[in-house]
Order: sequence, then C-alpha cells, then structure tokens
Amino acid sequence: MLNPFCDIYKALGKKNESAPFSNTIRYIPPEEGKCSVTSFTAAHHHQHTKTAMKILITSTSYGQKDKTPLELLQSKGYEITWNETGKPLSASDLIGKLNGCTGVVAGLDHFTAEVFENVNDLKVVARYGVGLDRVDLDAAKKKGVIVTNTPTANSDSVADLAVGLMLAAARHLVEGHRQTMEGGWPKLFGVSLFRKTVGLVGLGRIGARVAQRVQGFECRTLVYDPYIDGETAARYNCQKVDTLEMLLSESDFVSLHSPASPATNQMINRQTLSLMKPTAILVNTARGELINEADLCDALKNKIIGGAGLDAHAAEPPQTEDYRDVPNFVITPHMGAYTTEALYNMAMDSTNDLIAVLEGREPLYRIA
Ligand SMILES: NC(=O)c1ccc[n+]([C@@H]2O[C@H](COP(=O)([O-])OP(=O)(O)OC[C@H]3O[C@@H](n4cnc5c(N)ncnc54)[C@H](O)[C@@H]3O)[C@@H](O)[C@H]2O)c1
Repeated sequence: MLNPFCDIYKALGKKNESAPFSNTIRYIPPEEGKCSVTSFTAAHHHQHTKTAMKILITSTSYGQKDKTPLELLQSKGYEITWNETGKPLSASDLIGKLNGCTGVVAGLDHFTAEVFENVNDLKVVARYGVGLDRVDLDAAKKKGVIVTNTPTANSDSVADLAVGLMLAAARHLVEGHRQTMEGGWPKLFGVSLFRKTVGLVGLGRIGARVAQRVQGFECRTLVYDPYIDGETAARYNCQKVDTLEMLLSESDFVSLHSPASPATNQMINRQTLSLMKPTAILVNTARGELINEADLCDALKNKIIGGAGLDAHAAEPPQTEDYRDVPNFVITPHMGAYTTEALYNMAMDSTNDLIAVLEGREPLYRIA
C-alpha cells in the first residue's frame, strides 16, 4: 500500500495547483523506511540501463537524510558520481568531474564560462538551491546547457519561521525561557496575534504563504507590493495598500518579504519606524539590507515600536551587543530555510527538473 505521505505523484512531482503563487510542487518527506520510489518505477530501470547516462551530484547534503530523490535517479538507470571533497568544486575540478556527464545536481560550485566551454556532454545544471551567482548563465546558454533552480523549496519553511518570530516577540518566548531556566518565575505579559492586522511587505512566494498562515489566526492582511495589483492581493485574501507608510501605520505586525534592491534598501529606518504603532512588532526573514539596524535598535529601546524578530541581518553573523538589553527582541542565525522539508524539496525539485530535461520535457524552474 502507498504511504499516504509519499504517493507516487508527490514523489514524481505532480503540480499542486492550490498552493499560493504556485507553479510550485510541494512534497512531504516520507517517514524513514516507509517509501521507496524505486519499487514503483522498477520498470523504467530496464528501459534505461542500456544508455546509462552519467549524473554528477556535487551538493554534500543531497540524499543524506532522505533517499527518495536519489532512488528516483537510480530508478531511471543513471550512473551517479559524487563530489567527494565535501566542499564546492572549483572550475578546474568541475571540468574533470563533468567529463562524460549529461547532468549535474549542483551545489555552490563555480560554473564559469571556462567550465561550459570545456564540457561536451552536459545538458543540464540543476541547481540544488536558489542562488545562481556562481553559474555563468550566458555561457550555459551559448553551449546549449539548460539551467534550473529551486525557488520555492524553502518558502514554506521561511513562512513558518516568520510567524514563529511574530509569536516569539509578541509573547516574550525567549525571555520567558531564559528566566524560567534560571529559576525565575516572571509574569511576562505580551500581545496576541489573533485577529490583529498583519502588514506584509512583498507578496511573493514567502509573503503569500505568511498571509495564508496568519489568516488561520483570523488576522486582517494588508500588502504593500508595487508589483502586484489589488486583484492578485485579493486572491490571497489580502488588501493592497499603495504606500509603505499606509501599511506601517495600520499594522500590528509587519513582516518583510521583498528582495534587497535599491528600492528596498533601508526602507525601515528612523522615519518609517516612527509611523508604526508603539505596540507593533517587526519581523524580517528577508534581507538585512531592508532595515537600518541602528535605527531599529533605537526604536526598540525608546519604545517607538513594541518588538522585533530578525532572521536576516546586514552583516552575518550580526553585531548583537547593542541589542543586549532590548526587550521583546528575538534574533536567529538566518535559519529560515533550515528544515528537513526544505532540504527534501530542494533535492526533489532539482532532481525532477534534471530528469525532465534529460527526458526532453520542459523543466518547471528553468532559468536559462
Ligand atoms: N530567511 C531565509 O532563510 C530566506 C530564505 C529564502 C528567501 N529569503 C528572502 O525572502 C525574501 C522573499 O523571498 P521570495 O522567495 O518570497 O521572493 P519573491 O521574489 O517570490 O517575492 C518578492 C516579492 O517582493 C515584491 N517586491 C519587489 N520590490 C518591492 C518593493 N520595493 N516593495 C515591496 N515589495 C516588493 C515582489 O513584487 C515580490 O512579490 C527575499 O528577500 C529572499 O532573499 C530568506
């Protein structure tokens, strides 16, 4: 019988049409030992063994915790080779390792123009992750190599953490833990998230998922995102506002989900913080550049706003000295994407797209 948490459609990447902004696939990792894709796809094995294509896997965490993506590759009869160095490969190492490979599941290796010029069988670079700064996309295109990435793999995990930070700051979770562990028994009064107004800056993959989550808390959700229209916002039960100022002044919780860009650089600063409610809580799981951190620290100390939860920082690791005595403040080490599920999704998304290209189908997350 199929494990309900690992049906073949999930394992093979059936589209989930109902997910926010979804051209996205989501998977649920199977319980350990409960599901093997190989058993469902054994028939393919024989079809492909004659023309065994070689696949290089350079990411060191791929298939470590959960074998399903690896089994999926094996079920296709591909011959798999690994990066055994434990770190990203240099251009020259890649050239050697890629000899005879038709596909690569790529970590943070250096796919320079030289690499693409020197490989002949390669058809696809399936990035296990989002960033493409180490892949020369023009050179890939010139050589006819398709490049894919996994942009939605960690969106749910980051959205979970954003809500976690809202609750942690609003309910003094870290302070309560610390004082109780030290033998104290403090009365720490916080504010509730239930039925509050949550302002989202950016309604992309993560912002939309945060909207979905806080609507479970019966929150009203406002959105400031110059690139989406009111109709799109309404599809996610969000109300679009035209200015950041409107969003900040109306929201009890403000969560940042826009990219770092000249337009968003330090959008949260002394002046914009002064527009927020004195009880408001600010959460940043996006990028540190969005906030003037010195201004935020002052605003927290002077009770201009009620609290903050930060996962992304201008410098990483961040300087925390100034925040030491700040109340209602929670800080985490850019760990939004660090979940079993996100790792699994990255492996499945990259594997599915690699297979799609090699089988002549259009990959879901094609970049070049
Ligand atoms: N904490 C983590 O571990 C972690 C993990 C993944 C992504 N991130 C960050 O989270 C953020 C959101 O990621 P995503 O995948 O949802 O991105 P996305 O591209 O899907 O969405 C970004 C949204 O921001 C909007 N936007 C662009 N400029 C804006 C502006 N000036 N003001 C308001 N909105 C603007 C866009 O229209 C888009 O809807 C990014 O900054 C990303 O780097 C953090």
